[in-house]
Amino acid sequence: MAIPEAFLEELNERVDLMDVASDYTTLQKQGNRYWGCCPFHSEKTPSFTVTPEKQVYYCFGCHKGGHLVNFVMEAEGVGFVDAVGILAQRAGMPMPEDEGHPEEAKKRERLLSLNKAAARYFHANLTGPQGQRGQDYFARRGLSKRTITNFGLGYSLPQEDGWDRLIQAMTEQGYTKLELLEAGLAVQSKKGGVYDRFRGRVMFPIIDLRGNVIGFGGRVLDDSTPKYLNSPDTVIYNKSKNLFALNLAKKSKAGYLILTEGYMDTIALHQGGFDCAVASLGTSLTESHARLLAKYTKEVVISYDGDQAGINAAQRAIGLLNKTGVNVRVLRVTGAKDPDEFIKKYGHNAFQRLIDGAAGQVSYRIGQIQQKYDLTDDNQKVQYLQEAADLLARLSSPVEREIYGGQAAEAAGIDKAAMHAEVERQRSRLGWKQKKQADRKALTPAAENQPTERQFRYRNVRSAMAEEGVIRLLLLEPDLLAQAEALGQEEFSSEVLGKVFGILQSRWEEGKTTPIEVLSSLLDNREMSHIATITQKPESLQNGAAALEDYIRIIQTEHMKDGIADDRDLLAVSSRKRTEDAP
Ligand code: UTP
Ligand code: MN
Repeated sequence: MAIPEAFLEELNERVDLMDVASDYTTLQKQGNRYWGCCPFHSEKTPSFTVTPEKQVYYCFGCHKGGHLVNFVMEAEGVGFVDAVGILAQRAGMPMPEDEGHPEEAKKRERLLSLNKAAARYFHANLTGPQGQRGQDYFARRGLSKRTITNFGLGYSLPQEDGWDRLIQAMTEQGYTKLELLEAGLAVQSKKGGVYDRFRGRVMFPIIDLRGNVIGFGGRVLDDSTPKYLNSPDTVIYNKSKNLFALNLAKKSKAGYLILTEGYMDTIALHQGGFDCAVASLGTSLTESHARLLAKYTKEVVISYDGDQAGINAAQRAIGLLNKTGVNVRVLRVTGAKDPDEFIKKYGHNAFQRLIDGAAGQVSYRIGQIQQKYDLTDDNQKVQYLQEAADLLARLSSPVEREIYGGQAAEAAGIDKAAMHAEVERQRSRLGWKQKKQADRKALTPAAENQPTERQFRYRNVRSAMAEEGVIRLLLLEPDLLAQAEALGQEEFSSEVLGKVFGILQSRWEEGKTTPIEVLSSLLDNREMSHIATITQKPESLQNGAAALEDYIRIIQTEHMKDGIADDRDLLAVSSRKRTEDAP
């Protein structure tokens, strides 16, 4: 039976590999991973790992690894469909004999189209004669006409003009009050009346990666409260899974994403030439946000308010982002309360200098130190503390020492004050002359690029690294396949990577994408282990197209070189033959 891909995707959303694996082994956290004794081979010290963010498992002992469904196949000794059945039962999802959920899909469609109509209506209000106050407000905040259009900003009419202006406009277009309620655009009073949620506010539509309007934020024009009102979570909007302006920022060529706290910060940065700014909305950063960011970039620059609340929020965000393996930098905004105020006051170049000067990779490196030590062991904890403090002592900014010190302490379960004291002690001892030397040492590159599974060993590592990159990119962003037409499976030096590429490409030609859970149904468990391992390495989707081009060029150049080398071997053989044959 072919299982619909949407079903597999939903299964994957609903069942956590951590829960399933925990039924077979006891898992303990260390670094980015959870460790336990391998359920697939017998051992006394744990070498089996689960990486929850990526929902993959891998055993360093027997080298088995893969995705949720692979795990159940392996653990229960069943085939693909049966493994899906076991998981479906666990998730309370009926197996997809019947059609799925056509009503639910229809509902989503309706609400999305209602939201789009509402965004058009708010925008028309703003630019029309009734929108003067909204326009004045945005002008005061320094927003250009172009920015207003780019972001599709709008205005909801004040209640003096009526409590249900949006409802009227939308019902005229054929939407029902119930739909307005379901979209979070209308509110029901205790007495049963229905009125507009947003009144007298400037409106910020929240747009997802496919260009759908999924929700709104609305700001008052004065000091009244609440300052911002946001759409509640609905069938189509989940605030902990969406980021404002990611639809624009994902196209940025900056190579990093700037994470801000709010609508106005993000918009001001875009207008100021930083098209890579995004914001989490009306909520602090969540794990899902962090995963989403990691999907689109290798580096996040946190740019929160400069006050204590901002520092605390940054600290939290660093912890979450670190788990995903992205580099994190924290901006110190001085002389202004937030990025919006800063860029208006000091301009683009000053903000760029802030970014350039921000502590680079510190948390990334702390994360790496963390992974070296077993923090449940007291001796190792002390070593960790000293090594982390050594790194922290080199930071010149006290705010950064505080942020990263707190983070490092928390990871080890040590008192923040103890970490702070150790950092300051090493700082006074260190002397700045040693700085460069030590920095160099910390940057030793890891050279282990060969797969552990002998069967898959690479004969052309340079090409294979590019081939891995192609597969990672295409799994993350299937649309890039359109730009990989020139590449052929036969040009791959690694057979397994070529096979995967062949699958992705031929399915794409049939109009189908290939999420990893679908791929896992088409590969054997060893092959899937290998793919799971390579998808663990970081990849940036920013400039994905350019990266893909580079990868393809490398693969094709290496393929040509290999071809020439093969020809030479042949020539060598045939000429030897000739000599032997010679009388
Ligand atoms: P801020 O008050 O720092 O926002 O709140 P801001 O964008 O800098 O505000 P102004 O317009 O410049 O004065 C940060 C974010 O927190 C959420 C919003 O998403 C806001 O952008 N927030 C804030 C709310 O959801 N509700 C509130 O009442 C306040
Ligand atoms: Mn602000």
